Amino acid sequence: MNVKDQYERPIISLRLSLTNRCNLNCLYCHHDGMILTEDEMTSDEIYQILKIAKKIGIQKIRLSGGEPLLRRDIVEIVEKTASLNFKDISITTNGIGLKKYAKPLKDAGLNRLNISFDSLNPNTYEKITSKNLLHEAKEGILQAQKVGLFPVKINMVVMKDINEKEIMDMFEFSKENNLVLQLIELIKSDSCENDDFSIEHHYSLDNLEKDLENMADEVKTRKFMQDRKKFFIDGGEIEIVHPIDNTKFCQNCTRLRLTPEGKIKPCLLKNDNLVDIITPIREEKSEEELENIFLKGIYNRKPYFTD
Ligand code: GTP
Ligand code: 5AD
Repeated sequence: MNVKDQYERPIISLRLSLTNRCNLNCLYCHHDGMILTEDEMTSDEIYQILKIAKKIGIQKIRLSGGEPLLRRDIVEIVEKTASLNFKDISITTNGIGLKKYAKPLKDAGLNRLNISFDSLNPNTYEKITSKNLLHEAKEGILQAQKVGLFPVKINMVVMKDINEKEIMDMFEFSKENNLVLQLIELIKSDSCENDDFSIEHHYSLDNLEKDLENMADEVKTRKFMQDRKKFFIDGGEIEIVHPIDNTKFCQNCTRLRLTPEGKIKPCLLKNDNLVDIITPIREEKSEEELENIFLKGIYNRKPYFTD
């Protein structure tokens, strides 16, 4: 059974942000790192939410942040998630903690990883993240690959005059290390009235996508997100994410989100219509009531981009 929203979009995956805290400070990031650790959901509360998600038919779980590896109980959270037999458990991380955590996470039941990694050049990496941690991030990526997490995807947010000339270098690095390269267009922030950074540094991937169509040995589209094309070239793989002015991005969106403080967030690109699920859990409401609150979060989903 797959629950659908009002726009007939099946809800396949839940993206659970575990914390807003982060050890980097990326130029494009819209998180305010201000949430206090004590306001974050506990691993038991997360487990209760995941049980509801499983019951209503959600198949895939992605743990994200902030930086999810900053949670001291990250391995326990993955273990608890894995005990519910979802089809897929993944994490989005900046990779800095992976040297330590890749193996325990794999052993706990993690299937795969997406790693935010926007440059191979130490100066550019530091300019983007404000930290001199390129080496640690790279080590983390290679460790994830080594312990058999598969696929390991590199998320490269492409920014004009910052890293757009590095796309091919990043592809070579990805190919050499058997990683998938995911190129992402810069998204503007809904919370900033005037997001000058994303306007100034937006870099359209349209032309590149056309070139890749011609160069690729094979092109595939994703089952549920058909605007996401995968290009197979010379033994490597590139996926393109166009979150900008793209009706299909929303038409194909099958993801529900949860904030670290336990609110269901219906849309990546907006901060409204949030539904509080943590208070009723703390008030020990019945399973049925909790399920209905979850369904309300799904009911609140509206496409951000429309024709
Ligand atoms: P997989 O496709 O499962 O590997 O995950 P992903 O690539 O969607 O997740 P990741 O956390 O690596 O995020 C990469 C990009 O996915 C983001 O920059 C967004 O453009 C897009 N994305 C993240 N969350 C959502 C969402 O809730 N809805 C949609 N439509 N796209 C999202
Ligand atoms: N624009 C595009 N992608 C972004 N990400 C985070 N902020 C932005 C933004 N403003 C991407 C990063 C991260 C993933 C969860 O979302 O690549 O890995």
